Amino acid sequence: MKVLGIETSCDETGIAIYDSNDGLLAHQLYSQVKTHADYGGVVPELASRDHVRKIVPLVERTLELAKLKKADVDGIAYTRGPGLVGALLAGASMAKALAYALDVPVVGVHHMEGHLLAPMLDEKKPEYPFVALLVSGGHSMLVEVTEIGKYTVLGESVDDAAGEAFDKTAKLLGLDYPGGPLLAKLAENGKTGCYQFPRPMTDRPGLDFSFSGLKTFAANTIRASDGSPQTKANIAKAFEEAVVDTLLIKCKRALKQTGLTRIVLAGGVAANRYLRSQLGEFAQRNKIEVFYPSFEFCTDNGAMIAYAGCMRLVAGETTDKRASVMPRWPIDSLHPPLL
Ligand code: KG4
Ligand code: ZN
Repeated sequence: MKVLGIETSCDETGIAIYDSNDGLLAHQLYSQVKTHADYGGVVPELASRDHVRKIVPLVERTLELAKLKKADVDGIAYTRGPGLVGALLAGASMAKALAYALDVPVVGVHHMEGHLLAPMLDEKKPEYPFVALLVSGGHSMLVEVTEIGKYTVLGESVDDAAGEAFDKTAKLLGLDYPGGPLLAKLAENGKTGCYQFPRPMTDRPGLDFSFSGLKTFAANTIRASDGSPQTKANIAKAFEEAVVDTLLIKCKRALKQTGLTRIVLAGGVAANRYLRSQLGEFAQRNKIEVFYPSFEFCTDNGAMIAYAGCMRLVAGETTDKRASVMPRWPIDSLHPPLL
């Protein structure tokens, strides 16, 4: 079954074609970063308009790269939520219009399910069950994954998401939007041990996170500093170490609590090299198997939506073409694909 996947939950238009026999055939991404950079964050109305502009040419280009015609598509998957309502509507409308025109089934995919299944696009796939650390710009959570669609949230952020904390702290350091990757780059030149940031919510039991205090701590540290480039790099380093350390402590707890020995790292912040290396070292020492998506499939993309949608469509699940988008949609309300 050849499934066209459409991702438009935020500021990236992602299109892909996943074949249940041959895997990923082609994928294309248009990032709106430049559109939003001047505003220091995503402007929802501009995001919706840009999706509308880019979606048709991207679908055509992806089909061309996969050497397919529209009529070869057997099903459509689109991101139904969570995300920005206008952005979601742009993708959902395209998906439904194509599904009507081609007379094929359509399925609405949960964006975070897409993220947590992204490592399945790799050669080396995790087996179920596993613990997933989902860390993106909008969400931070630890999830116990028993099988596709069976998700138990073990803990989540009570305030800012990890990526959001990276982006806000980057802004304080004078970096452009989205600052996460830029802050990580700056931290490479930073010296360890110049500043001692807290490790929020690690001194009490539980698997929830809180990152907004770290951002405030960073703001106060920056204000009291000399503001030199080296000082900024040292602060970036201390901030990154605090976030990664905190995430690692919670991952260890989640593995212990569930008794599982496999962990998947997904979402935009999974692209962070320091997080990947620290989790990798811990896993090696403790005989834990760790899986990350390739860098391009950590941040938002169409391939993860095409994959998750394909798994559901192959099982016979479809979403009513009249169904609305779900800007808020708890991941633990999902169910395994319907047979
Ligand atoms: O998953 P994603 O593309 O979008 C959401 O669903 O939110 O994640 C984007 C987030 C942004 O906050 C971005 O700054 C962060 O992931 N990010 C990083 C890195 N690359 C992306 N944060 C830290 N280090 C990175 N290397
Ligand atoms: Zn995302």
